[in-house]
Amino acid sequence: MSDIKHLARETVQALTPYLSARRIGGTGEVWLNANESPDCNEYQLDSSNLNRYPEFQPPALINAYAQYAGLDNSQVLTTRGADESIEILIRTFCEPGTDSILICPPTYGMYAISAETCGVEIEEAALDSNFNVDYQAVSRAVNREGGRVKIVFLCAPNNPTGNMLDKQKLVELLEATKGKALIVADEAYIEFCPELTQADLIALHENLVITRTLSKAFALASIRCGFTLAQASVIEMLSKVIAPYPVPDPIAQIATQALSAEGLKIMRERVTILNNNRALLKEQMQQLPCVKEVFPATGNYLLVRFEDSAKVFQAFAEDGIIMRDFANKPRLENCIRITIGSKAEMESTLTTLNSL
Ligand SMILES: Cc1ncc(COP(=O)(O)O)c(C=O)c1O
Repeated sequence: MSDIKHLARETVQALTPYLSARRIGGTGEVWLNANESPDCNEYQLDSSNLNRYPEFQPPALINAYAQYAGLDNSQVLTTRGADESIEILIRTFCEPGTDSILICPPTYGMYAISAETCGVEIEEAALDSNFNVDYQAVSRAVNREGGRVKIVFLCAPNNPTGNMLDKQKLVELLEATKGKALIVADEAYIEFCPELTQADLIALHENLVITRTLSKAFALASIRCGFTLAQASVIEMLSKVIAPYPVPDPIAQIATQALSAEGLKIMRERVTILNNNRALLKEQMQQLPCVKEVFPATGNYLLVRFEDSAKVFQAFAEDGIIMRDFANKPRLENCIRITIGSKAEMESTLTTLNSL
């Protein structure tokens, strides 16, 4: 080992970093591996204040998001993407070496990676046979004698399986874990099924936290802007830990425009188009002999189990279409996640599949 590497914390030496879509790389024209939106809007930038540090929590942005989410300004924190929300939650509520987080695999990979980098243990309560949350198992893990679960991460729409939460069971879980653990509902993709948000439960449950992002339906993955929604008591604790200037001023300007009445209208039109593209793709895929199973369609992606995913992945790669391979993940054998893109991108996807 190099002289410097051994100086790093042991957990960091042993860590396998999250393989983000850009880190995996790939060559091709059609990018359907990171659940990004296919289109991009234009924004105005005022550079007259770039010599000044930005506001800790830009008021216009907080105001706009609180209004959009139907919450009070004191219930919103903005972060560098939802990924930073995840990390700040762990750093605020979990004692390294003592506390743990609970995840429900298969799910989004960053909960575990963030916990690992913070030296926080990871416990698991696997999704049930239909890939829904096993609420009983989660409650048992939190309430276990001597248990140290401080945060439960639930993802809805779940990345990659698309499953949603059951509101009644979530409420029971919030009651059963009150005063012991936070229940985090990751709603990165909620704009694709807004009627299924859990944000209305925040007023009643101090241990509910919701994470959101502008990276998906708002088509702003590059600006790294996310939000944490919770009662003011939780936001106050997180505000102690987050960096002093988390959101650069140009980002706040763009995000505020994206949350204006016009910005929301554009976002909702995009969601309608992408949800239609998804429905068409799903319908056509279900008729293909190489497809075994299409998972629930809730976000801007579809998880598909193929008869032979290696062959399909190879065919996509040869045609310059980059997808996300889940085949080596437990319980997701032969699965590929396809981001819903433009109509032309969906047609290219089907052309490749039909050629097999
Ligand atoms: C479920 C889920 N949560 C959070 C994120 C991270 O979002 P952000 O780009 O805001 O960091 C992603 C990104 O793919 C995601 O799939």
